[in-house]
Parts: sequence; C-alpha cells; structure tokens
Amino acid sequence: MIPPILRTKADLRGRVNDWKRAGEEVGVVPTMGALHDGHLSLVAAAKAACDRVIVTIFVNPKQFNNQSDLDNYPRTEEDDARKLERFDVDAVYVPGGDQIYPDGFATSVSVAGLTDVLCGAHRPGHFDGVATVVTKLFTQTRADKAFFGEKDFQQLQVVRRLSADLDLDVEVVGCPTIREMDGLAMSSRNLLLSDRSRTKAAALHEVMQDMAEGLRAGGLANDLAQTARARILAAGFTEVEYLDLRANADLTLLDKPDRPARILAAAWLAGVRLIDNIAV
Ligand code: PAF
Repeated sequence: MIPPILRTKADLRGRVNDWKRAGEEVGVVPTMGALHDGHLSLVAAAKAACDRVIVTIFVNPKQFNNQSDLDNYPRTEEDDARKLERFDVDAVYVPGGDQIYPDGFATSVSVAGLTDVLCGAHRPGHFDGVATVVTKLFTQTRADKAFFGEKDFQQLQVVRRLSADLDLDVEVVGCPTIREMDGLAMSSRNLLLSDRSRTKAAALHEVMQDMAEGLRAGGLANDLAQTARARILAAGFTEVEYLDLRANADLTLLDKPDRPARILAAAWLAGVRLIDNIAV
C-alpha cells in the first residue's frame, strides 16, 4: 500500500500524538528524497527497531551553498512513495517550505568544532543548515530514534552532538554505507553522473581502500594521500577537496590509525561532488 503522505506539521502531529498516547516508539528516517537502496536500508533498520516509522522528504534549501546545486538536486516524489510501499511505513512527511521555515523564521542551530573541517570547511553554512533542519524534523516528528547513513559520517557525528547537546532525547542510529557492485557509495547525486562519468566514479573507493591497506601496513596518511590524490585525478576526477585520515570521535586529523579512525574523501567528477569514507 502507498504510505500516507502528510504535508503539514498539524497532520503529522495528529498522528504522532495518537501513537505516543498508545505508548508506541517512533522512528524517523530524514531524507531529501531521490531514494536509493542506501535510504531503503535505513528504512528497514527503522522498521526493525521501532513501532512506527516516518520517512521525511524535504530538499532543505538552507544546506545548499550553491543555487544551481539546489536547483539540480533530483526530485522524484512519486517514485519515492512507490519505493516505500513494500516497507509498510506509517507516514511519509513531505512538508512545504512554510512548514519548516515559516515567515519570520530566524533561528539557526550551529555545532562548533566538528563542523570546522572536511565538508564544513568546503561548504560554508552547510552544517548549520543540516543541524537546523534536523532539529526541526526531530521536534516535529517527536521521534525516539533517528536513522542516518555512515556515508555522511561527519553529518552523523554532527547530528549525534546536537541531539545530546540540546537534550532532544533522540537516539541517533548510524547504519553502514550501501555500495554499488563496483564499490561506489550509493548517493542521490550519482543520478547526476553521465554513463561515462559513472564508470570512472568507482576509482574513488578503490583508491581509498588501497590507502587503508597502506595504513594497515604501517604507512603514514600524509604520504599515502599524496599518491592516492594523484590516482584519483588520473582516473578523471577534476579536484580532490580532501582525503584525510581522521579520528571517528572528534574528526581530529591523524597520521596513523592509533584510535578508531576513518579515511574521508570529497572529490569532483564532471561537476558532481562525491563523498565517501571507510573505516580503517
Ligand atoms: O542526508 C541528508 O539527506 C540530509 O542532509 C538530511 C539529513 C535529510 C537533512 O536535510
């Protein structure tokens, strides 16, 4: 059955209040739509853990720092609803802009420290936009648990931080990255790649895996990253924004994986910005 699509916070509130009164646990999967198997794995995890599941679809203008990126972001609402049919979700919340940012909206949520590096350094204002909308979605859905992909690892850590700092009482659950057969991390942005660019895209993950092997063999991140960057560019990418080894907990830059750590990368291919990360 096509899940009920709710477009106003009043409709959402009505349903959620009934569920809460019945003592049911509510899970939320926040998305910007263009759903792929990565999102669907989050929905499956939410269904397994919660009595009620809400998927939100809102292309959040505040997290785009480039108008054409916002304009080009894929919007596929009908397809998305169809993909959710088999998961029997309890509601799909597709708010209009006025439900999230009504006239006069003047508040911004900003997480310090974690957002100074990686995507935060390259996309000014991006994480303020993410933190603000996620806070709104958490309060509007009254979720007990929220499900995010590890693919956006920095985002996951930012959301964990804000949920704890603001006493939102939402358990933030990180779920593993889902990959295409050739290793490319699933992302709505992959839809923007031409067939030709799509075949080049897998190089990013392949090179990161080799860098992880080099680290396990005792190499230093800075040295390995130099070779890795050159290989990514040789594969057809036009720019490597970052390719770092960082500590999971606070995203400190490391030269060796002497604590739980990840290699994180962002690189441009044919005008499309791809990000990925792998645990070392
Ligand atoms: O990861 C995303 O799709 C977005 O950043 C999120 C968490 C839905 C906030 O708009």
